Amino acid sequence: MDTHRDTRLTVKPLTPTIGAEIVGIDLRENLDHATFEAIRTAWHDHAVIVVRGQELGEDDQIRLGERFGEIGHIFNPHKGKHPGLMFVSNIREDGKPIGVLPDGEMQFHSDQCYTEFPPAGTMLYGIEVPSTGGDTLFANMYAAYDTLPADVQARIETLRGVHYYDPLGEYIVQKGPISPNAMRWAHPVVHRHPITGRKALYVNRLMTYEIEGMTADEAEPLLNLLFDHQEQPHFVYQHVWRPGDVVLWDNRCTLHARTDFSTEERRLLRRITIQREIVA
Ligand code: OGA
Ligand code: MN
Repeated sequence: MDTHRDTRLTVKPLTPTIGAEIVGIDLRENLDHATFEAIRTAWHDHAVIVVRGQELGEDDQIRLGERFGEIGHIFNPHKGKHPGLMFVSNIREDGKPIGVLPDGEMQFHSDQCYTEFPPAGTMLYGIEVPSTGGDTLFANMYAAYDTLPADVQARIETLRGVHYYDPLGEYIVQKGPISPNAMRWAHPVVHRHPITGRKALYVNRLMTYEIEGMTADEAEPLLNLLFDHQEQPHFVYQHVWRPGDVVLWDNRCTLHARTDFSTEERRLLRRITIQREIVA
């Protein structure tokens, strides 16, 4: 546990490998430079930070996000005043979900890995949460990379994974042909984090279907080995949501997944992405 001398906040690791809770701050405040940088450092050190008991309005969330960098404006058909704000929700109005990613379980993935410039981070704010389920799991991809056998590390060093996203698709991989409408992008399987300089494993079960230059028969066993390795429980922090939780993950060195939850219960999270981190 690390209490900063010149700020009021305390950083408490949530597991030995990933996640830290920050206590002693109100994120609505205009945090001074030292306090904010202590939060940023905790984010880089622990890959996922959690701040509980917050009352964040839409503007507060945008302002907080802007301290980290540039907010992403992804296609957002939903409500929210700022173009970077969206909701993750199963709530429906006139039969239509008011947010994205409405229902059920989601397999491990990295946000927008199927685009040229995936966001540096994603921040969710809990507003309504089910009584059970709908937890978000985070896996540390530095640890996953570091613990691969040396021969596997050598084998993947220069490979590129091809990531796909079918906008009409499911959150659990379905066997079958890839839709011709799917968005796709290839990225190195071993990704060096631009700030920490550490290597992270950058493939995921939900969206990485191919390895450039390999046949499906060659790629499939290698990808499955990497997926099984990277999802091991000792790399994972499981976040059980409460209203008022702010969770920010580093999308460059983590994967996340979601456990199933009842369609009878409401779940509403407010979401922004940090498209590009800017260290002030
Ligand atoms: C996301 C996401 C998981 C969740 O917002 O990118 O994957 O728990 N959310 O809803
Ligand atoms: Mn996601």
